[in-house]
Amino acid sequence: MLRAMAASGAVENMWHKGQGIDVTDIEIRSSRQADRAQLDALYPQAFPEEDLLPVLGRLLEAPNDILSLVACHGEQPAGHVIFTRCTVDATGERAALLGPLCVAPELQRQGIGGKLIREGLALLAAEGIGPVYVLGDPAYYSRHGFSTETGAATPYPLPADWGDAWQSQCLIPAHKMPSGTLVVPKPWQDPVLWAA
Ligand SMILES: CC(C)(COP(=O)(O)OP(=O)(O)OC[C@H]1O[C@@H](n2cnc3c(N)ncnc32)[C@H](O)[C@@H]1OP(=O)(O)O)[C@@H](O)C(=O)NCCC(=O)NCCS
Repeated sequence: MLRAMAASGAVENMWHKGQGIDVTDIEIRSSRQADRAQLDALYPQAFPEEDLLPVLGRLLEAPNDILSLVACHGEQPAGHVIFTRCTVDATGERAALLGPLCVAPELQRQGIGGKLIREGLALLAAEGIGPVYVLGDPAYYSRHGFSTETGAATPYPLPADWGDAWQSQCLIPAHKMPSGTLVVPKPWQDPVLWAA
């Protein structure tokens, strides 16, 4: 799943011209069962070369394991992000994994992705979660406070040239990031999701 952004430049090719919306009109809220049809339509548009619907479905069926937020433009979800609650094995410390994240192609580059990330991080910080991990394009996620992670390993080995794509940030000031391996719930326990 994360190959879309780990492969540099892939996103750029998918961008369409935005419609000049005001991002303050975008409402971020928890996703609901009733959003499912819209999300099932959104993902193939945002990820035309990858079928993320199976993992999306498995994640949405595990609501206690995830924070799932939609960005609504009017009534319609125009963007979506999931943060999965995880732990780091050595210490059992609570952590979160960001992804997938997507915005409808015609509404990209207008701040919606950033707004989804910021809202999610604020909610996780309020839960007391410190470490947040993401596998994606550093050029994008570095804008949102992420940098290369070396202390906690991914649950499955990554392709050799994806080293910089594994990133983290800590939501608790002056907190020491844990070392070990990220322990992910069942929807993420598939090496294919972590491979090229
Ligand atoms: C990646 C994505 C979620 C970003 O959402 P968005 O609403 O378009 O992003 P924002 O408007 O918050 O941020 C856009 C800024 O980030 C930059 N940006 C976005 N993706 C980037 C990338 N891969 N590399 C570098 N910069 C990137 C843009 O240049 C833009 O900055 P600019 O306005 O100065 O040009 C969206 O483009 C998308 O859905 N892409 C397809 C699916 C995908 O790849 N998802 C991530 C996989 S985990």
